Amino acid sequence: MGQKVKKIAVMTSGGDSPGMNAAIRSVVRAAAYYRTECIGIYRGYQGMIEGDFTPMSARSVNNIIHKGGTILKSARSKEFMTKEGRAKAYENLKEEGIEGLVIIGGDGSFTGGVVFNSEYNFPVIGIPGTIDNDIYGTSHTLGYDTALNTAMEAIDKIRDTASSHNRLFFVEVMGRDAGFIALNTGVGAGAEEILIPEEDLGLERMLESLKKSRRSGKSSSIVVVAEGDKSGKNVYQLADYVEENMPEYEVRVSVLGHMQRGGSPTCFDRVLASRLGVRAVELLIDGKSNVMVGLKDNEVVSTDLEKAIKGQNSIDKELLRVSDIMTT
Ligand code: F6P
Repeated sequence: MGQKVKKIAVMTSGGDSPGMNAAIRSVVRAAAYYRTECIGIYRGYQGMIEGDFTPMSARSVNNIIHKGGTILKSARSKEFMTKEGRAKAYENLKEEGIEGLVIIGGDGSFTGGVVFNSEYNFPVIGIPGTIDNDIYGTSHTLGYDTALNTAMEAIDKIRDTASSHNRLFFVEVMGRDAGFIALNTGVGAGAEEILIPEEDLGLERMLESLKKSRRSGKSSSIVVVAEGDKSGKNVYQLADYVEENMPEYEVRVSVLGHMQRGGSPTCFDRVLASRLGVRAVELLIDGKSNVMVGLKDNEVVSTDLEKAIKGQNSIDKELLRVSDIMTT
């Protein structure tokens, strides 16, 4: 492989996700394999602006593959959104002799990378890291699989108590703009109804479905609600609405929140992180830029970064249909 880049940097940016450490490890080890220097940047773009750098060797990423969070920390930098902030960041990278950057993050972080590249022609490669799975160009983002399992196990536990008390539970899962976590955990945990931002079927329909399941003999139920659902009511208002219309039900709410972003990554996320990290380094040292590495049909593929930001991962209609049938 003709090596065009001799010193690279890696950082994690935006909301953290399980598997980020495994991806850092992969980038650092792949760089060492190709005899390329690697620098870790703390706190994403903010650390780039402040020159918060650390040299990373193959041994500096020992014992992190199984850890949640990110050893490089993460941040959302307002300063990087300004020209002055990006100029400072560029000066720091130049001074350190860094010639390419691996960004592990979501679409906001990739947008920063695209702007930075257009201003300074600085090579950037993205690795999709977010539990929301809302990035075009990959079937799975890092951390999504772990978050699914975390949320599903939590809902299983809620089911135990819901069933003991004949209660109806509204469980809010993460997904500000996307319903991937809600739809998959809803099916996986056997939810009665699943509310997602991509499909607003209306409150009446939800009520009808809950009444129907009650009539059919179900004494407890789970409704999974994505954080960003478009019903016009938040999860507490939804619970009140159902309690008013179905006084026979005792309703409770559980918001799973940030626990979904933590924890040890699943095997799937660790393997994905390892594969994407290696490809990201290979692309960078081969002189490529402005692409995101991702997974399609279990193959590692590259997608133009701008496409990854603007494109939409659509929800699986088949899963919606299966969910409907399962509520019979
Ligand atoms: O990681 C993505 C996400 O989980 C969204 O679904 C959620 O709305 C957001 O992060 C919350 O992040 P924070 O609390 O860091 O602003």
